[in-house]
Amino acid sequence: MKVIVTKNYEESCQVTANMILDQVRANPASKLGLATGGTAEPVYPIMVDACKKGEVDFSQITTVNLDEYMGMDPTNDQSYRYYMNQRFFIPAGIDLARTFVASGKNDPEKEIALFNEKLYGDGHFVDIQLLGIGVSGHIGFNEPGTMISGVHVQKLEESTIKANARFFENEADVPTEAMTMGLGDILKAGKIVLIATGANKAPALRKVLLDDEVTADVPATVLKMHRDVTIVIDEALAAEIGWKN
Ligand code: PGA
Repeated sequence: MKVIVTKNYEESCQVTANMILDQVRANPASKLGLATGGTAEPVYPIMVDACKKGEVDFSQITTVNLDEYMGMDPTNDQSYRYYMNQRFFIPAGIDLARTFVASGKNDPEKEIALFNEKLYGDGHFVDIQLLGIGVSGHIGFNEPGTMISGVHVQKLEESTIKANARFFENEADVPTEAMTMGLGDILKAGKIVLIATGANKAPALRKVLLDDEVTADVPATVLKMHRDVTIVIDEALAAEIGWKN
């Protein structure tokens, strides 16, 4: 596992965006695995800016997102589809037909089949997967306690609901379930880049970085089994973790 310690979160976003941009420059027809959440948010305007300056061409990429809240209409401004459209796809001029964010409104069984079709139907695995990490230690919405390999509907942890309540008017409005790529889906990506900031992520990252155990208590520890993972953290978080390069 490669760990990049940056001066600050802003630099982390730049480093993370550059990794995705480099992938698309190397292969303009890349399949990108994308993530939402607060931490990844500033990564997208950097990529949009590069596109507007003509430094990258997104016209041939395809994208698959990690997850979506169950019950959430794709037009709802709290949906991850809306987040992606507003922050990346529309400003970068990406054809929405080349993008996939699961719908929280469709029949789950049919949506899981469609999700798998988007991940594997063209025989082209995700080239680079962007990840955040939850306070619970989740990646995607793979919460502690179970290690499920494939796309599934996941009940969200109390800590996840509390953490995501900041995006909603009331905590009671946060959906309690999500559809997510499974851990095996994430591990099939060619490269993985995980960006994290904030002391509240230190306990989970300590379990990822400071020992050799893979445990369902912290699903992100499965990343130890992948050969090309980069974790991007700032100095403040590195100090909190007790990580030294
Ligand atoms: P956050 O979420 O970036 O909003 O903290 C990360 C995650 O839950 O994976």
